[in-house]
Amino acid sequence: KTKAFIFDLDGVIVDTAKYHFLAWQKLAESLGINFTHEHNEELKGVSRVRSLEIILGLGNVEATQEQKDEWLVQKNEDYLQYIDKMDDSEILPGVMKVLEFLKSNQQPIILGSASKNARPILEKVNILHYFDDIVDGNDVSNAKPDPEVFLVGANKANQPNENAIVFEDSVAGIQAANIAGMMSVGIGEASVLNEADVVFNNFTEITEEFLRELINK
Ligand code: BG6
Ligand code: MG
Repeated sequence: KTKAFIFDLDGVIVDTAKYHFLAWQKLAESLGINFTHEHNEELKGVSRVRSLEIILGLGNVEATQEQKDEWLVQKNEDYLQYIDKMDDSEILPGVMKVLEFLKSNQQPIILGSASKNARPILEKVNILHYFDDIVDGNDVSNAKPDPEVFLVGANKANQPNENAIVFEDSVAGIQAANIAGMMSVGIGEASVLNEADVVFNNFTEITEEFLRELINK
C-alpha cells in the first residue's frame, strides 16, 4: 500500500532550533529584550514574522513595519551563517534509517515545513534527493496550526488526508495534522506533545515494524 509520509524539518530532521535561538537572541539582545530558551519553545513551528512579533511583545517594543522588515532580514542573515556551516552530521539520530526504510518501500516522502530556508538546509545536509516533494514557507500563506502545509503535502503525494502521517516536534504542527485528519506522530516530550496520536523521544525509537504497520493500515 501507499501512504504519504510528511516530515517537518526544524527539530525533526535537523536540530536547527538552536540556530534560530542564537539568531533571535542576538536580535533581542540588541533591542534590550531578555529572550531565554524557555521563550524559544513558543517559537517552534511558528513563522518568521510571527516569531518577531512574539519577541517584540516580550519587551513591549513597538516598531514601524520598515524597522520590523529590517530586523527580519538581519535575523535571517545571522541564521544563514549557521546554516552555511551545517553538514550531514547534523541530521538527528535515527532519521536516515527511517527515510531509507520508507524509500525502499516506495513510500512518498514529503517535507512540510514553515521555513523559507528548507531547500538550502536539505541541500546542506545532503538529503534533498530523498524528498518527492517539498512544501515550505514559500508555498503556503497560513502558518501552523493551520493545516495548509500538510494538506498541500498530501495532495502532492496524491493521497487522501487520512493516508497521511505527519512527523512533528511542535505543538502547532501536531494540531495542524490533527485538524487535517492525518495521523500525528510527535517527536519530543510526550507531556508537551500530548495532543499527538503517538509520541517518540526521537527517531531511534521508531521501529521498522511500526512503519510497516502504518504502511499496511
Ligand atoms: C519553523 C521553525 O520550522 O520555521 C521556526 O520551527 C521558524 O522556529 C520557522 O521561525 C520559519 O523559518 P525560517 O527559516 O523561514 O525563518
Ligand atoms: Mg519543527
